[in-house]
Amino acid sequence: MPLVFEIHATRADAERVVAEEIAALVRAKPTAVLGLATGDTPTGVYRELVRLHRETGLDFARVRTFNLDEYCALAADDAHSFRSWMNAQLFGHVNLAPAHTHLPDGTVADAELERHCRAYEQATEDAGGIDLQLLGIGRNGHIGFNEPGADVYTRTRRVELHAWTRADAAHAFGGIERVPTAGITIGVATILAARRVRVLAFGARKAPLVARTLATEPDSAWPASFVRLHADARLVVDRAAAR
Ligand code: F6R
Repeated sequence: MPLVFEIHATRADAERVVAEEIAALVRAKPTAVLGLATGDTPTGVYRELVRLHRETGLDFARVRTFNLDEYCALAADDAHSFRSWMNAQLFGHVNLAPAHTHLPDGTVADAELERHCRAYEQATEDAGGIDLQLLGIGRNGHIGFNEPGADVYTRTRRVELHAWTRADAAHAFGGIERVPTAGITIGVATILAARRVRVLAFGARKAPLVARTLATEPDSAWPASFVRLHADARLVVDRAAAR
């Protein structure tokens, strides 16, 4: 099936629909494996999942999560790590077991890097594979830290961050010189192995990125285009991003 393009009137509507899909998955399969993203894009979905947990008892006790990526050279408890961000946005507010939440370890020694990346892939497979992968689109078309040039066969690995990726993070770090130069990301092939892929894009600044994702044949110059190869992928946007 081609990439489904789903337009909602507002960002909040889209977030509710995606959160409800995740909630339905978790209710039907309490051991569901979720592939999670950081950044501005998924914040409202996480807020809605927290609300569903508090108000309806949505139960994450047996859910496992695997994040897309993490910065290199930042300890997990660093305020700027994606682990800290996930704790603040989601993990700290629902009953996910800490041992069930996974992010790559950005501090792993060079000698251990390959083994760590292989183990991260293996852990997703041991958990039964990712049931639903959330994605945002970077300004250069990246998904996870799969920057332009990443091919469809890529797996979990260390990557150098693109100049725009670092520039976009500069504000959060208080200056581009403080933004790590590398990260560990799951690969395009890892993303495409998920059973469902949900790419979210909200606001006018995402409109050109959405247009290019829809118009581009799968090509490593625009990694988000690879989601078109997936059998159950949806690009979920608000009106501003659809324009
Ligand atoms: C996040 C990630 C990135 C972001 C992308 C969009 O874990 O890997 O690919 O999804 O950079 O970022 P936002 O949502 O901040 O526009």
